[in-house]
Amino acid sequence: MLETVKYLIGSTGPSGFGSKSTADQVTDHCPDLHFITAIITGATSGIGAETAKVLAKRGARLVLPARNLKAAEDTKARIVSEFPKSEIIVMSLDLSSLHSVRKFAFDFESLNLPLNLLINNAGKFSYNHSISEDGIEMSFATNYLGHFLLTKLLLSNMIKTAKTTGVQGRIVNVSSNIHSWFSGDLISYLGLITKNKCEYDGTRAYAMSKLANVFHTKELSYRLEEMNANVMVNCVHPGIVRTRLTRDREGFITDLVFFLASKFLKTIPQAAATTCYVATHPRLVNVTGKYFSDCNEASTSKLGSNSNEAARIWTASENMGRGKNGAVEVEEGARPIQVTVKKVMETGSQPTP
Ligand SMILES: NC(=O)c1ccc[n+]([C@@H]2O[C@H](COP(=O)([O-])OP(=O)(O)OC[C@H]3O[C@@H](n4cnc5c(N)ncnc54)[C@H](OP(=O)(O)O)[C@@H]3O)[C@@H](O)[C@H]2O)c1
Repeated sequence: MLETVKYLIGSTGPSGFGSKSTADQVTDHCPDLHFITAIITGATSGIGAETAKVLAKRGARLVLPARNLKAAEDTKARIVSEFPKSEIIVMSLDLSSLHSVRKFAFDFESLNLPLNLLINNAGKFSYNHSISEDGIEMSFATNYLGHFLLTKLLLSNMIKTAKTTGVQGRIVNVSSNIHSWFSGDLISYLGLITKNKCEYDGTRAYAMSKLANVFHTKELSYRLEEMNANVMVNCVHPGIVRTRLTRDREGFITDLVFFLASKFLKTIPQAAATTCYVATHPRLVNVTGKYFSDCNEASTSKLGSNSNEAARIWTASENMGRGKNGAVEVEEGARPIQVTVKKVMETGSQPTP
């Protein structure tokens, strides 16, 4: 109850920011970002577009990967018209396709750019049952698996950049508080909904993908620490805001739900604040493996804090990326669960994770 009141009045937490802080405000005192190269996924609309605008305003060089290049060019044009000195590169990436992720990583590496900041923001709420070209449920494939592989392929660049420049690298995974709605066994449910349309529940699948973002953050922070890498990874809940995320469910009921929840909704500049805070604020030097909401550290669900589960999902995800002959075996104790993958990732001359 107290938390709800604090949220509604926008009371500030230990960071000095709260639910009503905007991306512009949280980056107001951050250092000049001219020395930063950042990749932001999902910057064609909503929270990602605002994040890109504010980071460009602060001077960061941006790489905006998008499946819709025209929309990404429009985002770029809007930012450049406001901040003419912005340096923005638009590139092609469909996160639901492992092949596309590999191609993007390869193309990005060909540019010989450093990489200081990776914001895994793109997201999909797949209301109807849908399967990616790799044979994985679509929300999971887009929100989690694509970002998992993307991060993995870009990591050596990030580690090297941090080493040569002395500037700590940061990865921000955009999750959601809805991750706590998922209980049960993630791998079993993924296998079930990937195979059986009738078992599909769009909200549960979305919550599962967001829980996977939390696990990814936890396990990656552990691995980076083990490697002594000067790269931090954290996870955020942006808050609830009306964007194109609900595009599959546009209509009267959605309008009504947003109307009833209007007191709890953030504006887009407020929703981009936590991402921008975690991506840039000097206070967060050496902070890793944490979850943030309203620009302050927050708790994940009990399941989300389970390190063993995070490690298990990591291994399963690596297996999904290494599938052979159209099938991926995901070990669950002694019982193997088979997740079918239609297309095996091509390795060829492209970098392997
Ligand atoms: N809105 C909320 O209330 C809320 C709450 C909690 C968490 N989040 C999270 O915040 C993040 C941003 O969402 P948003 O609300 O800003 O939604 P949005 O306006 O729909 O933006 C989503 C972005 O992701 C991109 N995207 C979707 N599928 C993609 C794919 N296969 N490959 C590449 N890019 C893809 C979209 O590009 P296209 O233009 O190609 O579609 C768009 O740029 C998501 O991770 C979402 O889960 C949102």
